[in-house]
Amino acid sequence: MSTPTSLGQSVVQKELSGQAKNNGVAANTTQTQPLWLLAEVTYRCPLQCAFCYNPADFDKHTQNELSTEQWIQTLRDARKMGAIQLGISGGEPLLRDDIEEIVIEAKKLGYYSNLITSGVGLTEKRIQAFKDGGLDHIQLSMHDITEEINNFITNTKTFKLKQKVAAMIKGHGYPMVLNVVLHRYNIGHLKEIMEMAEALGADYLELANTQYYGWSLVNRDQLMPLKEQVDEAERITKEFREKANSKMKIFFVVPDYFGDRPKKCMNGWGEVFMIVAANGDVLPCHSARVLPNIEFPNVREHGLEYAWKESPAFNRYRGDDWMKEPCRSCSEKENDLGGCRCQAFLLSGDAESADPVCSLSPNHHLIEQAIEDSQNPILSEKPIIFRTNEKSKEYGEGNKERIEGFHAVP
Ligand code: FES
Repeated sequence: MSTPTSLGQSVVQKELSGQAKNNGVAANTTQTQPLWLLAEVTYRCPLQCAFCYNPADFDKHTQNELSTEQWIQTLRDARKMGAIQLGISGGEPLLRDDIEEIVIEAKKLGYYSNLITSGVGLTEKRIQAFKDGGLDHIQLSMHDITEEINNFITNTKTFKLKQKVAAMIKGHGYPMVLNVVLHRYNIGHLKEIMEMAEALGADYLELANTQYYGWSLVNRDQLMPLKEQVDEAERITKEFREKANSKMKIFFVVPDYFGDRPKKCMNGWGEVFMIVAANGDVLPCHSARVLPNIEFPNVREHGLEYAWKESPAFNRYRGDDWMKEPCRSCSEKENDLGGCRCQAFLLSGDAESADPVCSLSPNHHLIEQAIEDSQNPILSEKPIIFRTNEKSKEYGEGNKERIEGFHAVP
């Protein structure tokens, strides 16, 4: 699993930027349509990545996965509403044995489909079935050039397998799309990572600096690189991109914490993205269930049309009626919509406040403190907590170890 800003999204956001209606629509009305459907078909995963953005309490949501028929109906309903891009994600989607059926239906419906995978479970037989079924795109997560860091950060022995899967994807004529989440343990290897991607024949490489949600928030002190390392990474990427003979397209996703303005998260709440989680919850963003006092619709009870247009959850942060100062009177508000609601809540305890990433936010000191903490050896040398079912159960049961400093359970 990669980060909320996966390559598929970078690409689609670019493609759709001219079409997406925006923001400044009054709350409780929408003329928008969900152009992107992300199907998080399972939270089960053979990897245990320290930076996974899945909810830390995902175990609560694993019991009741939608059936194949329910997914197919979801795809049909979303397509009727205008969805054109389908991401099939997780957890590890290949842990389900019905992805082939989902792919065939997606093709019939006219989606551009993208499988987002760790590669575990991708066999010759399955990739051939995906090809025959009409899957357009496979995005593979990679972690480092060294076996040691790959295996450490995922808490698995998957280094060799990933190299093999990359070759298999290429061998079946797919564009090679690699996603690498950058953090303290691999950011120093960036040049070698880009060389590896090029040698594997990558067409696209997304370098996604860790954003701090879910498990990456739990491990923030351990994962966050220094500002100088991020600046250097950006410089190296620019230099590599400018190499005359490099055809590989590189996306560098800048980390929030080192900027001074927040991102327009998900291109606006309920503007273009609709996520259906493994249990059928319909969400405007991956982390939305951390927000208090919002009941999210579920496809078992409500149609997607209701979820998108009428549900209080999708209307909650549409437009700017909900904003308080300093966002309300800020000249930047249409550009960033006050940043990320989940980040605002997770860090400050107030979902309606400005994203603390913004230097104008009264809570910006929380970001400065986080950067300072990540350099404090007492905090940053604590062991990483990996994304295991057992740990997730503990978080679900309210064990707030390591997250006492935050205002909410991630
Ligand atoms: Fe940004 Fe939820 S992750 S609004």
